[in-house]
Amino acid sequence: AKIKEVEFVKSSARAKDCPKHDRPEFAILGRSNVGKSSLINALVRKKDVALTSKKPGKTKLINHFLVNKSWYFVDLPGYGFAKAPEAARMDWSAFTKGFFLNRDTLVAVLLLVDASVPPQKIDLDCANWLGRNNIPMTFVFTKCDKMKAGKGKRPDENLRDFQQFIRENYREQPPWIMTSSVTGFGRDELLLHMSQLRNY
Ligand code: GTP
Ligand code: MG
Repeated sequence: AKIKEVEFVKSSARAKDCPKHDRPEFAILGRSNVGKSSLINALVRKKDVALTSKKPGKTKLINHFLVNKSWYFVDLPGYGFAKAPEAARMDWSAFTKGFFLNRDTLVAVLLLVDASVPPQKIDLDCANWLGRNNIPMTFVFTKCDKMKAGKGKRPDENLRDFQQFIRENYREQPPWIMTSSVTGFGRDELLLHMSQLRNY
């Protein structure tokens, strides 16, 4: 499961511009600002392989990163960011159809969910869409370090609420992993999980 090298390959505006289907890939999906780009950096232990920002809407294109010359991380723009300028906003319906339904090399989607906030409808909708289309997914809860978030529920309580919903709506519970890109919590577990999905 060790990551020895990672190399940025290309940014694509459309699914058909992505690298050809030659290697297994994991797509990182989730709301804007959930920590998709940060998770990639944490997993590969590099600060700024993927660009991150405090402001939502940082990642605007489909970014392919080649790991150990053998498989891809795909960093994607987030969904649910209403304030993005029209030009920067993705047409999500076209995008999802174009990318997720036509990538036969897609091993799984890592669906990132912010553990520091209560379950969001848009995340549940996204999980449902993936489920209906038989796209394998793993829930990756981010920001699990934010245990002392003064107001509201704690991450473990938010997670429990989210899983409750998933149990009610799925016959099989997709795998889920708790992480923090700040502390590195969950890193090894997630990398091991991904190597098992790839079969090497
Ligand atoms: P878009 O590209 O806009 O869709 O966002 P993104 O999902 O790629 O989020 P990004 O990685 O840019 O992180 C957004 C903000 O959340 C940044 O300020 C990060 O430092 C912060 N962040 C990401 N992961 C964590 C985490 O595990 N814990 C905490 N406390 N903050 C995090
Ligand atoms: Mg990003």
